[in-house]
Amino acid sequence: MLDKIGVIGAGYIGGVLVQELVRRRLAKTVAVTDPAPFVNPDDPPERQETAKKQSVAKGKALDIMEGTPLLGSDTILEASKGYEVLDGCDMIINTAGVPRKARPDGSFPSREELLEINLKVTGQVADAIARYCKNAMIISIANPLDAIVYTLNRKLDPPKNKIVGMAGMLDSSRYRTFVAQAAGVSVSNVEALVLGGHGDTMVPVRSCCRIAGMPVEKFVPADELEAIESRTRKAGGEVVGLLGFGSAFVSPALSALDMAEAIIYDKKKIVAACARLEGEYGVKGLFVGVPVILGAGGVERIIEHDLTDSEKSALDKSVAAVRKTCEEVDRMLGASAAV
Ligand code: LAC
Repeated sequence: MLDKIGVIGAGYIGGVLVQELVRRRLAKTVAVTDPAPFVNPDDPPERQETAKKQSVAKGKALDIMEGTPLLGSDTILEASKGYEVLDGCDMIINTAGVPRKARPDGSFPSREELLEINLKVTGQVADAIARYCKNAMIISIANPLDAIVYTLNRKLDPPKNKIVGMAGMLDSSRYRTFVAQAAGVSVSNVEALVLGGHGDTMVPVRSCCRIAGMPVEKFVPADELEAIESRTRKAGGEVVGLLGFGSAFVSPALSALDMAEAIIYDKKKIVAACARLEGEYGVKGLFVGVPVILGAGGVERIIEHDLTDSEKSALDKSVAAVRKTCEEVDRMLGASAAV
């Protein structure tokens, strides 16, 4: 159990995170911050006064707190519209930013299209971490995933083991789900790794997919696997299209919680996660989804797996897409940092 975990953003993912952190007793104190609802200076003064008193973070925290006797959890909840509530956190889970949302015609933006709007709040998140909990372990979920982690790293320059993005865990969970359905076996029998960026170029690595230790091809024919891999790459969008009001929030929160538990309980768990590469997989200075070991030291090791030629070239393509978005970050923030 940690002393204090901070959740930035009390939206849908933030809500599940806080509820589960409390239920699983992962910290003595769970803090949550969200500026919503915003006070609009153009609104009539009475409306502004009301908005100042309202707080999604405080409302969700109070709701969850009132359920703690039923969960049997003595976790202390702190909530605020401002970032001061993050003071002294050992771990931060960052969800700050707008999610993808279906347009009236049913289409939806790519994660990369969220960059401009989410970069602004990421700047504030970085300032808040620097001010209130600069030594915290950071797990970031906000999109575009790889570029937001890159931005936090650019601004905070933490040790590389202390900052990681949650995406591979979710993408691998989706791949595992679809494979288990196709094979007609338990999801817990399916192991999988999805590497690369958290975008349409992500790489479901078939050579790493095993069912109870046996190659996946033994259970699922190649054409079906191809369809599953294509569905996995677009799985986030599939949920966006169905929900209408936003993007997936339960499975992303559960994925980040699994990573948090691996760190808190020093599990040395191998997962796909967005980590800073310094030459591994031929990449330097970018954050990309790769297999890592998560333990008390955070990202304790990056594992270099021998990919097949086609997996390797798919990963190179995905890295190129991540690099392009990070170059956008550099252009927007000024001064190049990507290698
Ligand atoms: C997804 C979002 C959270 O993949 O990136 O569902």
